[in-house]
Amino acid sequence: MSNYVNKRLAIDDLVPGMCLGKMIVTDDGKNFLNEGAVLTLRVIQMLHLWGLRYVDIREEAPTGALGYRMEDTEPLHMADADKKKTSSTETTVQIPAGFLAYYEAAVQVLKGTFGRARFLKDGFEITDVRQMVEECVLPLIEDPTVLDNIQMMPHPEDYLYHHSVDVGILSGCLGLWLGRPFRELEEIILGALLHDVGKALIPLKVLNKPGALTAEEMALMRFHSVRGYNFLKQNRELPRSILLCALQHHERMDGSGYPLSVTGDKIHPYAKTIAVADVFDAITSARNYGRKVTPYEAVAVLQYEMLGKLDSRTCSVLVDHLVPRFVGDFVELSNGQLGEVIFLNVSDSSRPTIRTIDGDFVDLDKCRTLKISKVLRT
Ligand SMILES: [Fe+2]
Repeated sequence: MSNYVNKRLAIDDLVPGMCLGKMIVTDDGKNFLNEGAVLTLRVIQMLHLWGLRYVDIREEAPTGALGYRMEDTEPLHMADADKKKTSSTETTVQIPAGFLAYYEAAVQVLKGTFGRARFLKDGFEITDVRQMVEECVLPLIEDPTVLDNIQMMPHPEDYLYHHSVDVGILSGCLGLWLGRPFRELEEIILGALLHDVGKALIPLKVLNKPGALTAEEMALMRFHSVRGYNFLKQNRELPRSILLCALQHHERMDGSGYPLSVTGDKIHPYAKTIAVADVFDAITSARNYGRKVTPYEAVAVLQYEMLGKLDSRTCSVLVDHLVPRFVGDFVELSNGQLGEVIFLNVSDSSRPTIRTIDGDFVDLDKCRTLKISKVLRT
């Protein structure tokens, strides 16, 4: 029988093929890597992401040396390890400073614009918002990491402004991916930034109510699209297409939306694009009246909603940009197993095949009782 010794190595010194000497347990007690696991490049990258400074690597003992001892088998807890950063959450949220600067500037402009709408109620100067589209949003939509960055942004408060900026950026991306000309992109983004301006006219106690709304409050909330349209109409500079973004972003292709329940042929193309961005951002943000879903669930929702509710071409283009990013994700399954997405199933891209850290393969397309409950790479 071979003898082994554990040698403590800095994460920066690890190379693929090394063998782990001690099990690594996550902060919440889950088995992240088993003792004896062979390190891959992806696993080493994950250890960097988790902020670990060192791990124990198993090496064959020199001739005559004492072998592998019992006290060496105690797992390495991520929570106890000498981390470079203080928590796993902090280590995964690394939003580029350039994105943050543009994003926060856009939020500030909208706060001013929506604030004036709430208190003055008689229209507003649109120059600030147009300038913000040009200087803050257009530079972001060609960034290949924009989807990741938006999903990483926390929305602790001021959800309305953050959501409006998210929808502005996402709608610009969708317009770009749909091949819209540049002049139209500016209009789509402007319409998207202002699509919920009617909510600025709803009493704050209803808008920010933490619990369920009464039927009367719900009706008031749903009326925001009409109020937004009427508010924007006061500004003679705004084209009708922008007004329709506010009025029609809750309409649905089959006529099941509101306020007028019109069908797809009567919905302005910009409003169709904004509706997709609005739904996607609402379900992938930790908003105050719903659960944040994973990008995998979001893809499943889009694939369902494109069958009659949302514009199918716009949904397809968003799914096409989300799905290729899935391969290589480290995920947690609903049974607590951790693993890596290694293969996308053609029949259902929201249910890929996972290689667990134990080396098993789980095909979520076949194993319908399991689902991806958390993405460790954000
Ligand atoms: Fe809305």
